[in-house]
Amino acid sequence: MQSDGYVDIDTKTPSGARGYDYILGGTDNYAIDRIMVDQVEAMLPGTKAGTRNNRRFLERVVRYLVQDCGIRQFIDIGSGLPTQQNVHHIAQAVAPDARIVYVDYDPVVIRHQKVAALAENANTAFILADAREVDAILDHADTRRLIDFGQPAALLYLAFLHFIPDEDDPWGMVRRLIDRLAPGSYLVISHATSDEAEVRQAVTGFIGENSKGNFGRVRTRPEVARFFEGLELVEPGVVKITDWHPDGRDEEESPRWFGFGGVARKPA
Ligand SMILES: C[S@@+](CC[C@H](N)C(=O)[O-])C[C@H]1O[C@@H](n2cnc3c(N)ncnc32)[C@H](O)[C@@H]1O
Repeated sequence: MQSDGYVDIDTKTPSGARGYDYILGGTDNYAIDRIMVDQVEAMLPGTKAGTRNNRRFLERVVRYLVQDCGIRQFIDIGSGLPTQQNVHHIAQAVAPDARIVYVDYDPVVIRHQKVAALAENANTAFILADAREVDAILDHADTRRLIDFGQPAALLYLAFLHFIPDEDDPWGMVRRLIDRLAPGSYLVISHATSDEAEVRQAVTGFIGENSKGNFGRVRTRPEVARFFEGLELVEPGVVKITDWHPDGRDEEESPRWFGFGGVARKPA
């Protein structure tokens, strides 16, 4: 960390947050990030469109949770860089009192979010933390200030859990957080998925190597469905996210790997 509070940024290793920013038309990315994204797009055309579709899924889900389910508090894990149509923009447009805790471990995200997006808003906070440190996130002063654990909340893991390797038990990580939330809370997941072993292996190998191991793996549909065990799935269940309450805005994406996921409610 620098003396002015800014954090040093590694510009030699591609970052998931900055590659994502590039796809979404942002400016907080470097050549190294753009090269990796363009290589994946060349391997699997439609990858960039799939990323933009994931953002549209986020918009549909957050609006649904605020409008139809009365949710007023969100924990967004692996929140990334985007400052347009972020969770608080979408939720607070419907319910100005909605509260959001963003969590990401990439320093470029905190630099951007703190300075550009969140400073004006007392109902949002950004925590720089590794998602695997569940207790540190739950016990953080901003989480305690913004999240009432006696009331339902939404826990968002969007385009994120594929960053967590199996040995770090992503299923257990999600479970530990859900267990701490009130009944009536919601879990939302979108996850990079492929039905083809060859694609899962190629993409996992490529991104894992290029990001110096900061990646988990592309998973299968049943592996993603396992995250929702014990919860009540919202219709239409665990599906391609473009099939979750579609609104006609999605672009044609790669059929070979795609966002798969859904929304589920913690029962009483
Ligand atoms: C592809 S972006 C997704 C952004 C956003 N959730 C969305 O769906 O639009 C994934 C984000 O997860 C973050 N990330 C990856 N591993 C993480 C970890 N272990 N702890 C916290 N954040 C992590 C990356 O820095 C990146 O910003």
